[in-house]
Amino acid sequence: MSYPYQFKSLDEYKVAYKKSTEDPSGFWSQVAENFLWRKKWDKTLQWNFTEPSVKWFEGGKLNITENCIDRHLEELGDKPAMIWEPNNPEDRVRVVTYNRLHKRVCQFAQVLKNNGVKKGDRVCIYMGMVPELAYAVLGCARIGAIHSVIFGGFSAQSIADRLEDASAEYIVTCDGAYRGEKIIPLKDVIDDALIGNKTVKRVIVYTRTRTPVSMIKGRDVWWEDEMEHAESQIEKDNVVSFPAVEMDAEDPLFILYTSGSTGKPKGVVHTIGGYMVFTAYSFVNVFQYQKSQVHFCTADIGWITGHSYIVYGPLAAGGTSVMFEGIPTWPDAGRFWDIVDRHKVNILYTAPTAIRSLMGFGLKPLEGKDLSSLKVLGTVGEPINEEAWHWYDENIGKGKCPIVDTWWQTETGGILISNMAGITPAKPTYATLPLPGVEPLLVDENGVEVKGNPASGNLCIRAPWPSILRTTYGDHDRCRQTYFSAYPNLYFTGDGALRDEEGNYRITGRVDDVLNVSGHRIGTAEVENAINMHSGVVESAVVGYHHDVKGQGIYAYVIFQGTHGDETSRRNDILQTVSRIIGPIAKPDKIQFVAALPKTRSGKIMRRILRKIAEGETSNLGDTTTLLDPTVVEAIAGGKL
Ligand code: WTA
Repeated sequence: MSYPYQFKSLDEYKVAYKKSTEDPSGFWSQVAENFLWRKKWDKTLQWNFTEPSVKWFEGGKLNITENCIDRHLEELGDKPAMIWEPNNPEDRVRVVTYNRLHKRVCQFAQVLKNNGVKKGDRVCIYMGMVPELAYAVLGCARIGAIHSVIFGGFSAQSIADRLEDASAEYIVTCDGAYRGEKIIPLKDVIDDALIGNKTVKRVIVYTRTRTPVSMIKGRDVWWEDEMEHAESQIEKDNVVSFPAVEMDAEDPLFILYTSGSTGKPKGVVHTIGGYMVFTAYSFVNVFQYQKSQVHFCTADIGWITGHSYIVYGPLAAGGTSVMFEGIPTWPDAGRFWDIVDRHKVNILYTAPTAIRSLMGFGLKPLEGKDLSSLKVLGTVGEPINEEAWHWYDENIGKGKCPIVDTWWQTETGGILISNMAGITPAKPTYATLPLPGVEPLLVDENGVEVKGNPASGNLCIRAPWPSILRTTYGDHDRCRQTYFSAYPNLYFTGDGALRDEEGNYRITGRVDDVLNVSGHRIGTAEVENAINMHSGVVESAVVGYHHDVKGQGIYAYVIFQGTHGDETSRRNDILQTVSRIIGPIAKPDKIQFVAALPKTRSGKIMRRILRKIAEGETSNLGDTTTLLDPTVVEAIAGGKL
């Protein structure tokens, strides 16, 4: 069965695209009719990019969980909403039907209520990839609380910063999380994050690993106890209910922190109505999802990809979403293929870095794995290189599955540029064409639009689509400055792109100081700040360099003045410091100790030169005449102190 808003041919895509640009309100109004609204919206779209202020479906009343769960119950109650694959393949798989999901989400919403959570409150979620994470997210949405999910790879300090930024009063966590052979002690990290915290009133702890945890009286409670208590409150005469709180379309749904080129990560805010409509629309069209197909997105729910294409998009479409607790290489590098085989996965959506890493294991892990259920493959998070694209196509898709290369960002909420499986043509390494409702353009450094094809420039978007970020939490001006000030009246993505003769876009990577390491976004300034926290460090500069598997690696130039330890121990101490301040994902791959950094006369670090040295391109460093002291560059390039 298909969806009324799903295009089925290239012509239908073209018609939809044309309508979406000529009459965005009419177009999205028609799509939005396919969802459950308690009250219809008064005005479809109102916007300006100067404040910025974007409002979709204003006056509309709804609850997103009624759209993701309740409205499917009659038809799909006994069908799987989620299939959970545990870290250890010998453990029990959990199939969560829509009925079960409904009950658990109602139960958890009741738990939140019992613990004092109200509409608009911020709830921080720091859990492993267990179904309870999805219950927590949706429980928040049901009661109208704003969730802020934090990826398990972030440190106590990062959590503390995020708790403070959002003045969060509630936390949901696990005792620990399994990742391959490791156990990550999540509650321990939360305890560290809470030292000195004055706002958090309650921590709800789900038991997963039975890792010993401290439980503080009056603050910490067990998930299991709370859920048991709530069960009797929401279930009467075999009827489960927790009335979903009526929300405005423009009420915030969640905050998700992401790295930018300056300062600390910012809390990107998405609102309910537009996000719901666009994630479902993009899910159904890009992947050409058919009802009852099994969709496996390998991301973590701690990132936007997991929010939009494990939880909200697939569930809003009444789909079946696979959630995987573990890692692709444990117990062996055939894990993804086992999951595809075991659950008869139809759509596999992963990151180029995962493909490149699995390529490294050769074809042996594929032996005996039946991948014939696959219909569509997808990639996200970073540019995919030609070699990885072809490996994916030939060995996983067996040349029969369209590969969708989906370009988007935390801020965009959903996929903006991508080919659409089997509908619009794929072109290796190109994200290709925009989705309906999305108007990309390229501009040069002076902000002048680069017209005609082929072209290259900075990628901007001309008008709002329904799931564009609305603000950065607690600091609207930062949102304006970061995305809407570089080029007046345009949303600036931070990415550079090429456009070919046919108008296909190829994203070439960030043009700002944001790195993309294994598909994770990390700001160079953030890493520098963390390195500079080390007591022996005077100054540092961080750049990205090409890394065969991770896409980009982190290269740090460090001026060190301490006397303690040798180079190896200093290096390790710096890595440990970064782990503590940000988390293990931000650890530099290379650290070079230097006597000085190349600076302009006005004191700005010349990163362009440092990038070249990190890439090993020392013979062609470009113009160095503006440098205060050119000998610094020679010393660094020669690897001398
Ligand atoms: C990059 C992830 C090339 C890009 C959904 C963007 C991509 C950043 C692609 C956002 C792609 C994402 N091809 N580059 N298909 N998809 N990117 O916020 O640089 O974690 O700006 O969102 O990833 O990363 P984020």
